[in-house]
Amino acid sequence: MSPHRKATATAHANIALIKYWGKADEALIIPRTSSLSLTLDELYTTTTVEFGGEGAEGAGGTDHATLDGAPVTGRAMERITAFLDIVRERAGIRGAAQVASVNTVPTAAGLASSASGFAALAGAAAAAAGLDLDDRDLSRLARRGSGSASRSVFGGLAVWNAGTDDATSYAEPVAGGQSFSDRLAIVVLVLDDGPKGISSREAMRRTVDTSPDYEPWVAHHARHLADARAAIADGDLERLGEATEANALGMHATMRGAVPPVDYLTAASRAAVQTVQAARDAGFPAWATMDAGPNVKVLTSAEQAEALNSWLYDRLAPATPGLRTLVTHAGPGLTVEKGQS
Ligand code: PMV
Repeated sequence: MSPHRKATATAHANIALIKYWGKADEALIIPRTSSLSLTLDELYTTTTVEFGGEGAEGAGGTDHATLDGAPVTGRAMERITAFLDIVRERAGIRGAAQVASVNTVPTAAGLASSASGFAALAGAAAAAAGLDLDDRDLSRLARRGSGSASRSVFGGLAVWNAGTDDATSYAEPVAGGQSFSDRLAIVVLVLDDGPKGISSREAMRRTVDTSPDYEPWVAHHARHLADARAAIADGDLERLGEATEANALGMHATMRGAVPPVDYLTAASRAAVQTVQAARDAGFPAWATMDAGPNVKVLTSAEQAEALNSWLYDRLAPATPGLRTLVTHAGPGLTVEKGQS
């Protein structure tokens, strides 16, 4: 390949309605459970990758990356280089890379920045390296960076099939999900946008290894996923919402059962979940879900999203300093602008 290839890709964040929590294979990132998510319009990452460009000294050079203009260092940079090594090996190239990433997602605050980040990196790095991958292969590649990134290759409702090995573990659009996803919205309650204390990688490992609540959640999970799929096929938001909230609350219970326990939720998160439940009592479609951070995302209908957002804001803001909220909708899959040289 030419020693100077460049590409840019944009990927949107996704929020899992039915979660991925726990790996069957740590190295390949094969999950214990399949998962189902909604890709979001308003939250995304755009990443440019250039192999062998200025500042990269070819074979012996070091990868460099920036996120919103600031250099990426330490463990985060090691993850990027490990990911780029997979791409370089597959493409048979050796040059160091320059990576520039711009994020509209608060990084590492449980707003799925690793999902949009690694999906965009997969798209840009593969194209810059001259690999011609279809969406399934891009999903498998993105998975190697961060499991949740496998789903951000696709727009709208996506399901990541757990599979049993690298070839069978990939995401795809949920059958019949396209028109239903346009009726959905997620209100994001940003309670705290600082970085999380413990990585999802470490927290899920500890949960799988030590929590007596983990296997029962996996058993329930199959029912949640089947319910979600049936709800999507029937256009039944309430049934999808019930499976979503039960699955998330169960996932957080598995972590609290770990030794030592992991609890991403704060007093503000718990108050927000209760307020979401009160919104439901008041007649709103509203179901809470949380990831590896304290922020609460509320599944609702596109039609009611603005009214729900105001209702929740009015009740939470007085006791939640710095509260920000965001109404998000179904968004598109990965887009790649191919190689200038
Ligand atoms: O972002 P990852 O791949 O480390 O996984 C995080 C998993 C959750 O966000 C907690 C759930 C999910 O399915 O996205």
